[in-house]
Amino acid sequence: FIHSKSRTELEYIHNAGVAVDHGGTIVAIARDCESVNVAKDRVLEETGWTHSDVDVVACREGQFFFPGFIDTHVHASQYPNVGIFGKSTLLDWLEKYTFPLESSLSDLAKARKVYTACVRRTLSHGTTTATYYATVDVPATNLLADLCLSIGQRAFVGRVCMDRKELCPSYYRDESAEQSLHNAMESIAHIKEIDPGYELISPILTPRFAPSCSSEGMKGLSAIQKREDLPVQTHISENKSEIQLVADMYPDSGSYAKVYDDHGLLTPKTVLAHAVHITEDEARLISQRESKVSHCPCSNSSLTSGEARVRWMWEQGIEVGLGTDMSGGYSPSILEAARQATLTSRHLAMQIGDEVLREKTKLTVEEALYLATRGGAHCLGLGDRVGGFEVGKQLDAQLIALAQVQDDGSRAGEDDDGYVDAGNVDIFGWETWEERIAKWLYNGDDRNTKKVWVKGRLVHHRR
Ligand code: GUN
Ligand code: FE
Repeated sequence: FIHSKSRTELEYIHNAGVAVDHGGTIVAIARDCESVNVAKDRVLEETGWTHSDVDVVACREGQFFFPGFIDTHVHASQYPNVGIFGKSTLLDWLEKYTFPLESSLSDLAKARKVYTACVRRTLSHGTTTATYYATVDVPATNLLADLCLSIGQRAFVGRVCMDRKELCPSYYRDESAEQSLHNAMESIAHIKEIDPGYELISPILTPRFAPSCSSEGMKGLSAIQKREDLPVQTHISENKSEIQLVADMYPDSGSYAKVYDDHGLLTPKTVLAHAVHITEDEARLISQRESKVSHCPCSNSSLTSGEARVRWMWEQGIEVGLGTDMSGGYSPSILEAARQATLTSRHLAMQIGDEVLREKTKLTVEEALYLATRGGAHCLGLGDRVGGFEVGKQLDAQLIALAQVQDDGSRAGEDDDGYVDAGNVDIFGWETWEERIAKWLYNGDDRNTKKVWVKGRLVHHRR
């Protein structure tokens, strides 16, 4: 079992067995045993539990468990468009690719097809928690919540609020602030009905971004936030033209972050996607309000939005998680987002003259994987539930297997035709565990993710 111990450190728990109760909660961990088989017995002996009380999870030689990935910003409705963005940038991308697709999902058969594929695909990449944007349409958004619950992915599901007439297309928007708020409440009511304790599925208030929301609409969402104590997600400071648009709309507020703050939307439960171009003052305000940032490096590179400064945001006291931002980002994989986070930090480093600062800017393997798991959990207020392997936490986990190279150069499990589906990471046997994890971060993919559990339930199995 491998997980983040802190932002800078991974913990390797060797020869371990974990006992999980029928509610999916970890009740005991046996660690550092002589072998995995001993660990499996010991975790029962030590606790007095039997196989009828708990499930024991343990892995084979060479495999490891890792906490499920947490995607803190993903548009389920844009999944069919992954990779399709040409040379567009944010505002023309929204007009050309995004609004037409999102609008078309009011067809519930189409929404079912897209959302089912999205939930299954992200689970297969090890994403056990997803913070989703759905669309403006209430029935289709409710369907996404139903699908997450039945397929078994932990999710925050947001009905997209966009009611500003000048900046939303006439074919895709809420007709008024009043209607926008009414529809937000409808989707909240639906989730309360299907998962009353928000055990697996939670609503999340979703003003698309300041340019597409009226002032009245944003104030109304803030009132709902306070009344219902709900999380909020939106976009901030992704692209220079977008920032100019916000400055023109709110000439007195002084900054993009201040616009949200003036509308009561910067809360400890707010997740702000991108934050590429935020100023020092904005970072201070976000930090003071204890709002969180979802770093979306795949998207920021694809739409040429810029390079968000993760190390700098950490230094300002802001908690950061990772988002795929499909389909601004081209990949459903948080492992890809983690990898891109390390590369983006290196691009930032290359712009720095001072050697000490340059080295410091780079993100390590450990830091990237922290962002992908515990960092995301903290952003979503799930820090006591998921993100690592501790007694009392729920089992949201992925089982990872890397290809073991044999003496003749073939890989274990390779069949007679030389066909192998063991993934892109070859392990020769002499690598340390730190090196194996680095190889997985930089070359791994869904072929390595053999099984995925959410709240103790097996929700993906690669055969
Ligand atoms: N800003 C407003 N809407 C969107 C969206 O759908 N994706 C991204 N990346 N940015 C946005
Ligand atoms: Fe986005």
